[in-house]
Amino acid sequence: MRLKVTWLWFICTSLTLVTLLVVTFWSSRRRVVVNEESIKAVLSSVSGNDILTPPKHKMILYFNAPPHFQGYEGENVFKKCNVSNCSFSTRAANLNYSNVVIFGHSNLPEVPPLKELGQIWVFTSSESPSHTNMAVTKDRWKGKFNWTMSYRRHSDFYFGYGKIFPRKVKVERDYSAIFDQKDKDVAWIVSHCGTQSRREEYARQMARYVSMDTYGICGDKNCDVYKGNENDSCHDVVSKKYKFYLSFENNICKDYTTEKFYFPFTFDKPIMPVARGAYNMREYVPSVSYIDASDFPSPRHLARYLSSVASNKTEYIRLLKLKDEYTSKTSPETFEDSLCAMCEALHGDIPAKIADVNDVIFKDQCKDPTDLSGDKSVQEIGLNALGRIVSKLKDSIS
Ligand SMILES: *[C@@H]1O[C@H](CO)[C@@H](O)[C@H](O)[C@H]1NC(C)=O
Ligand SMILES: *[C@@H]1O[C@H](CO)[C@@H](O)[C@H](O)[C@H]1NC(C)=O
Ligand SMILES: *[C@@H]1O[C@H](CO)[C@@H](O)[C@H](O)[C@H]1NC(C)=O
Ligand SMILES: *[C@@H]1O[C@H](CO)[C@@H](O)[C@H](O)[C@H]1NC(C)=O
Ligand SMILES: *[C@@H]1O[C@H](CO)[C@@H](O)[C@H](O)[C@H]1NC(C)=O
Ligand SMILES: *[C@@H]1O[C@H](CO)[C@@H](O)[C@H](O)[C@H]1NC(C)=O
Repeated sequence: MRLKVTWLWFICTSLTLVTLLVVTFWSSRRRVVVNEESIKAVLSSVSGNDILTPPKHKMILYFNAPPHFQGYEGENVFKKCNVSNCSFSTRAANLNYSNVVIFGHSNLPEVPPLKELGQIWVFTSSESPSHTNMAVTKDRWKGKFNWTMSYRRHSDFYFGYGKIFPRKVKVERDYSAIFDQKDKDVAWIVSHCGTQSRREEYARQMARYVSMDTYGICGDKNCDVYKGNENDSCHDVVSKKYKFYLSFENNICKDYTTEKFYFPFTFDKPIMPVARGAYNMREYVPSVSYIDASDFPSPRHLARYLSSVASNKTEYIRLLKLKDEYTSKTSPETFEDSLCAMCEALHGDIPAKIADVNDVIFKDQCKDPTDLSGDKSVQEIGLNALGRIVSKLKDSIS
């Protein structure tokens, strides 16, 4: 009996000891991992540390980076920059050790974290100002941001969906064969149907005067899922068969041009882009490289023009050759360029500045469409008349 109790005691004590050991080992391991990270982070931000990082090394943190930015980490991000003494991180735990902290618009925290003295905060957004998350306009974010990084050309650092520039090497194509292969006129790839710009109404009116196919959720034609990269077969198919490609934005806002416009340039697709979007697009996209809906008083005028060019081989080839003189960068390259510029700015004189985010991004940036008024009126007159009759009836009843 005594012997049994002793044995039991022995087994229990050993088990407890082993458990304790395992727990201690595990938690110390975890602690070590955390410490290593913080030490690295601290070291990388200390200037003059000649072992781990070059002097004047600046740490730029993207505090709430969207998932596709994860993997951007460290100093390599700045390798191709003119000034590359910077490091980039998307680990929020580095907050206290960062010289610059970037905050993204769409998932901006309701309450800002503590801002370290001397830290520079950057507001970033490449989305249209009609985005619903307006946390940034709340008082607690007021005066927090020093710089802006956005699709607005007048932000401190430009970060848009693309950037058009003249190509150095000419594209060689058999333009005649390309034209002959195209047996259709206008293609539209679209997946967001009811929009502020009323592009769906605009396209509907166009379709009366030019042959047009609509692909995607809002249309009746199907092609592959939109990928937005070189493997996007939907755009390949469309570029081969159609002469014009509609790039209609869902909002008509200053400087706001999205990736769908840049796509045929980035991947040198042999198709003529037709844009309806930013009312000041001419300021940043060469006018010969695309057709701008704002040059036409109505969808009917634009459609008639496209139809006439579609049946004139010489003219179509002339336009496509002009378009082919340009190419484009897209995001994430535009983001990388922006980071380069930021790194350079950090190594120069930094004048103290507070960014008025509301002014740069949101205020007076967007417009309601005006190119539909003529055709729209028929419907609206009808509706208004109906409204007047109803209210008259109500009046006479009460
Ligand atoms: C960048 O770092 C290099 C060392 O890697 C240093 O020689 C140079 O002075 C630094 N440049 C600036 C602008 O701080
Ligand atoms: C880097 O320097 C070159 C030569 O001075 C200049 O042409 C280029 O625009 C610079 N790049 C950036 C991103 O500032
Ligand atoms: C950052 O510093 C603040 C105080 O300045 C502190 O409350 C917070 O715990 C620190 N965060 C980290 C991750 O070290
Ligand atoms: C495109 O497809 C090729 C072949 O499947 C692949 O190697 C490449 O990584 C793809 N590109 C992208 C951006 O997904
Ligand atoms: C076709 O376009 C060319 C200019 O590229 C023009 O000279 C010619 O008159 C046009 N042809 C027709 C039939 O409109
Ligand atoms: C950044 O903003 C803070 C206020 O949030 C301000 O005190 C500081 O001077 C600004 N720094 C720079 C470099 O603009």
